Amino acid sequence: MRHLLTAAMPRDEAIALLDLAEDMHQIQDRELKKLPALRGRTVVNLFFEDSTRTRSSFEIAGKWLSADVINVSGKGSSASKGESLRDTGLTIAAMGVDGVVVRSGASGAPALLADWIGRPVINAGDGTHEHPTQALLDAFALRRRIHGDAARGKALDGVRVAIVGDIAHSRVARSNALLLPALGAEVTLVGPAAFLPTPAADGSRLGLRAETSLDAVIAERPDALMLLRVQLERQAGKVAPSVGEYITGWSLTDERLARLGDAAIMHPGPMNRGLELSSRAADGDASTVLAQVTAGVSVRMAVLYSLLASDHRSSASDRSLDSGAAR
Ligand code: CP
Repeated sequence: MRHLLTAAMPRDEAIALLDLAEDMHQIQDRELKKLPALRGRTVVNLFFEDSTRTRSSFEIAGKWLSADVINVSGKGSSASKGESLRDTGLTIAAMGVDGVVVRSGASGAPALLADWIGRPVINAGDGTHEHPTQALLDAFALRRRIHGDAARGKALDGVRVAIVGDIAHSRVARSNALLLPALGAEVTLVGPAAFLPTPAADGSRLGLRAETSLDAVIAERPDALMLLRVQLERQAGKVAPSVGEYITGWSLTDERLARLGDAAIMHPGPMNRGLELSSRAADGDASTVLAQVTAGVSVRMAVLYSLLASDHRSSASDRSLDSGAAR
């Protein structure tokens, strides 16, 4: 059984998956955006948390591959009546679906589902744990910005990426901290001390550099600044630093933007304009925000194809999703 539960994967397998996403990306230029690869397959998007980008792009990706895509959200499902994750998963599997995309507020929920339901499971973001397709689309967008149309087959060797914000509680940061170094990128984690991983947490275990001064990191002229969303809904009443202090120290303001050079400005969305970054930073030429969204469809097409297309089950990028790291 094959799943995508984590962004931890070997370099060559990550490159193969990004290359497959390059193939899928070409569909963006077509008038008729439809490939027959997953005709007759059914994918359920099981979302227990709100989402705009991830759920929509998985739905578009599945439909462009001719799969039947069903959306089930926690709020409108029997989960709201107290049904357990296991029973919900087994119920969906019993309907004959071929794969489940799951977003949950509970870290580890996709791995549990993968053990229970006997169908490929794709982690679409679980609690503060991981968001592997976000990291893959970030790598795809960054690789395209660096290498342009010659991106195929390339990695991110020596590309200096600063990830800024609440690192400790960010599934986006964790998945990027696993994937980007595997592709050769030099990653620095930047944020208030309270938002950086503790020595026992993954960031330190991965051996990544951590800094508290965004200004010091900007002075080093990184190739990309990845700004994380300040998760106000997870931090109500316990934000340290305060919103004002965060803007003073870690927001990409117009003034910091002027010192940043031509670094790519990345954000997974949704953005809090004026908090993580200014509108000028979000909308300027260096911003990859919308390119990341577009990349999300291509990357999710590649993942769905790798896991569900019968004619792709023994290729290199498929094995990447079947490796020990990705279960
Ligand atoms: N980046 C991201 O996961 O966005 P959504 O919550 O809108 O899916």
